[in-house]
Amino acid sequence: MANATVDVPITIPRLAGKVALITGGARGIGESIARLFTKHGAKVVTADILDELGQTVVENIGLEKASYIHCDVCIESDIEKAINYTIEKHGKLDIMVNNAAIAGDLKFSILDNNVSDFERVLSINVTGVFLGTKHAARVMIPARAGSIISIGSIASTVGGNCSHAYTSSKHAVAGLTKNVAAELGEFGIRVNCVSPHYLVTPATVPIVKKYPDLYTNVYSNLKGIDLKEQDVAEATLFLASDESKYISGHNLAIDGGFTVINPSFGLFSKGKAT
Ligand SMILES: NC(=O)c1ccc[n+]([C@@H]2O[C@H](COP(=O)([O-])OP(=O)(O)OC[C@H]3O[C@@H](n4cnc5c(N)ncnc54)[C@H](O)[C@@H]3O)[C@@H](O)[C@H]2O)c1
Repeated sequence: MANATVDVPITIPRLAGKVALITGGARGIGESIARLFTKHGAKVVTADILDELGQTVVENIGLEKASYIHCDVCIESDIEKAINYTIEKHGKLDIMVNNAAIAGDLKFSILDNNVSDFERVLSINVTGVFLGTKHAARVMIPARAGSIISIGSIASTVGGNCSHAYTSSKHAVAGLTKNVAAELGEFGIRVNCVSPHYLVTPATVPIVKKYPDLYTNVYSNLKGIDLKEQDVAEATLFLASDESKYISGHNLAIDGGFTVINPSFGLFSKGKAT
């Protein structure tokens, strides 16, 4: 039962009257966040480069609650337009979710990594988050309120799970989160990060197909539960809502304990053996 995705009936909408912009909202975790936020009463704008899919998703959610805008997060004028569109349509921006990112090619030797691939990952995963944060702050500072959430990863705190570029990029996202939280607290703006373990999304399906053994049996110490897109959306909802009103600069791991438990000493498995 714990592994089933439970559609919890919404009795009290937790984002009633709020407006959110979600990058990378055309599929995967971003789509799931858009669906959950609108269920909780938010008006949502999704921004992506997959225009057809992005438009289909918001039509499916309902155009009275969700809309789509083309936006490449690496291009500052695109981000600027997405934020301005949100303000023109809804009059404010309460929540910014920097979700768009790419995994990059997994190469098992640093000698095979080239500069252009490395810079491409950093451009989307770091510069994109910087631009989203900067332009969200532009409209949130005068409002003296807001919640900015970036999607990190277990690769924001530990090494050895993903490509060099991706791990570098997610560590940078966690660092940027702390730095911007330090600056924007003065204006009542909270800045946080949500860091999931590996999960099945359109981004990871091809990686698992290519390397079927890579992510099996390396799950967290939490047995019998698979991480789902909706679980990441629920954590993001918490940081977006007023329930987390005193939480800022935090990197919330959604990893079943993976990044804080080092099983190599094996204390508990040794204990069982005696
Ligand atoms: N899937 C996982 O295992 C996993 C684990 C930890 C963290 N994450 C993070 O979760 C977030 C979402 O990942 P996902 O697995 O849903 O991936 P996904 O590929 O399914 O979705 C990412 C979305 O971002 C969009 N995107 C990519 N480049 C863009 C750009 N330049 N401008 C605008 N949009 C762009 C894509 O078109 C896509 O719709 C990412 O930040 C990712 O790093 C994923």
